[in-house]
Amino acid sequence: MTKRAWDGRTYDRIGTPQAAWGRDVLDRYPLVGNETVLDAGCGSGRVTELLLDRLPHGHVLAIDGSSSMIDAARERLGTRPNVAFAVQDLLELDLDGRTVDGILSTATFHWVLDHPRLFQRLRGVLRDGGRLVAQCGGQGNIARVLAAVDEVVVEPAYAPAFTGWQYPCRFAAAAETEQLLLAAGFSEARCWLTPAPVNPPEPATFLGSVILGANLERLPAEQHDAFVSAVLARLPEPFEADYVRLNIDAIA
Ligand SMILES: C[S@@+](CC[C@H](N)C(=O)[O-])C[C@H]1O[C@@H](n2cnc3c(N)ncnc32)[C@H](O)[C@@H]1O
Repeated sequence: MTKRAWDGRTYDRIGTPQAAWGRDVLDRYPLVGNETVLDAGCGSGRVTELLLDRLPHGHVLAIDGSSSMIDAARERLGTRPNVAFAVQDLLELDLDGRTVDGILSTATFHWVLDHPRLFQRLRGVLRDGGRLVAQCGGQGNIARVLAAVDEVVVEPAYAPAFTGWQYPCRFAAAAETEQLLLAAGFSEARCWLTPAPVNPPEPATFLGSVILGANLERLPAEQHDAFVSAVLARLPEPFEADYVRLNIDAIA
């Protein structure tokens, strides 16, 4: 299951960079408009909404491991007729024997550490010839921010909470991901990295709710603001999140 808790409402407000990347990913997806597409890790549904707009005669299955995210997605999209929601771990993905025509996934796969199993599960629900179009954090993603985090977590105030702990993300390289997709049964796979630096308007809220959420879970609430400030203080102003995206286009 997802390695951290999410606050769907805050993410919905703050996840603007992810929504913009999602639009770019959708632009790569050649949809006719009547397909059934799985949004794997739909979050609060901002990208799902854009996907629905491109499927006037199709359906979307919006799946996420976080019930808070699915609640937020239902709030956003619950009145749309052609979307169904489910809380499910992508590593246990099971559509009761059904298959989909396509899979979209944005800003999610790096939170799932077992990529071989993830890609096997996705291949298992994708019809032969169906397309996976995805983007997630890739090799080198937020390296500068994580270097600052490494310095803060060893400070005496925080060290006991982080002994033996690692940031729970897999930022994979393009070539290894292509290999894993082919090994999982995809017939074609093309992956590539793109730098995508972001200057969020609310740096502390963005750090706390997106990048450092997994860190803050390990700390009492009264330390959260100080931890975020300590990370921000180690980074140049204005704050820039040095994102690197891993793009995935694959055919089942
Ligand atoms: C940063 S959000 C991205 C949401 C949305 N796709 C977007 O682009 O805004 C990452 C999402 O991945 C989900 N997630 C992480 N690991 C998961 C897993 N193993 N199974 C299902 N969902 C998972 C989280 O719950 C979260 O909603």
